[in-house]
Amino acid sequence: MRVVSGIQPTGNLHLGNYLGAIRNWVKMQDEMEEGSECLFFLADLHAISMPHDPAELRSGTLEMVAALVACGIDPSRSVLFNQAQVPAHTELQWLLNGTARMGWLNRMTQFKDKSGKNREGSSVALFTYPVLQAADVLLYQATHVPVGDDQKQHLELARDIAQKFNNDFCTEDAPVFTLPDPIVPPEAARIMSLRDGSAKMSKSDPSEMSRINLVDDADTIIKKVKKAKSDADALPSEEKGLEGRPEAQNLVTIYAAVTGESVDQVLGRFGGEGFGKFKPALGEVLVETLAPISERFRDLKSDRESLDAILARGAAKAREIGRPTIDKTYQALGLVRG
Ligand code: TYM
Repeated sequence: MRVVSGIQPTGNLHLGNYLGAIRNWVKMQDEMEEGSECLFFLADLHAISMPHDPAELRSGTLEMVAALVACGIDPSRSVLFNQAQVPAHTELQWLLNGTARMGWLNRMTQFKDKSGKNREGSSVALFTYPVLQAADVLLYQATHVPVGDDQKQHLELARDIAQKFNNDFCTEDAPVFTLPDPIVPPEAARIMSLRDGSAKMSKSDPSEMSRINLVDDADTIIKKVKKAKSDADALPSEEKGLEGRPEAQNLVTIYAAVTGESVDQVLGRFGGEGFGKFKPALGEVLVETLAPISERFRDLKSDRESLDAILARGAAKAREIGRPTIDKTYQALGLVRG
């Protein structure tokens, strides 16, 4: 089993990232068996597909390492690195560009969302980004990729590229690429904005009140929950009563995901109550879960030397693990390298 996943190091790690992906990374790392391996990386090369500030990307990358370690990623057990220190990611992307089809990329909803009405003015990188994402996982022969719901389509594309490459250039008994499986949590796969129950919680939302950051202090968390959009009705006693109430649904889902209960269990306790009672309870469980993470984060983030060392060590290991795949890919394509 080889687990691979990534996160863009832009902006703060938020509750959606944590409940949708990072918590699963930690779980998979902690349950890893002998002979299995976990690789987690900062998708810094992906971050240049949108307008960005280089100084912020630099500091954001180091802060994201600190945040991941604070969440429980242990760099002595998992390979933790950033793409920019492992040139094989971009190398493999080019090699896969020959296999990926324009029509496949044209269907990617994230490109449509992020380019919006400005398709002609979008960067080429934003369009070809999913091929780099395919390279990220195929390079390491990933078997499992823990992600939130919004990345499922990119993972399907990675499987299509792997399958086509294996079909076109390999014999049946010696495929170059393993087909990766997305691992999406059954609940919390899509945490929504606190201001709008129909938009996902996102780093790029201009409103800070739309998301809870893992490094927010207790007062900020409680304030954001208190101001979260809700409705005037009491909570129902069963999940189906939440239909058509996206904001209520989201807040109850967050409570359930954080405490590890089912939505019905939470409603069993809070059914009949209004948000005046539910929101303070939600604030409390969030503070309890996030306070130890933000405390560890504050200690780690100023230790620049340790953070650089973690990334350097992780990148060296990643380069080693990825090398055989790169060699096999050049060979399969008939490229002469001496
Ligand atoms: P990114 O940086 O947007 O998000 C990192 C992870 O967090 C999940 N996530 C969410 N889950 C639930 N609710 C939300 N509101 C929410 N917002 C984000 C994402 O699904 C993701 O798992 N393209 C990727 C990074 C990437 C990657 C990869 C991931 C690059 N290469 C290879 C997996 C494998 C991205 O931008 O994630």
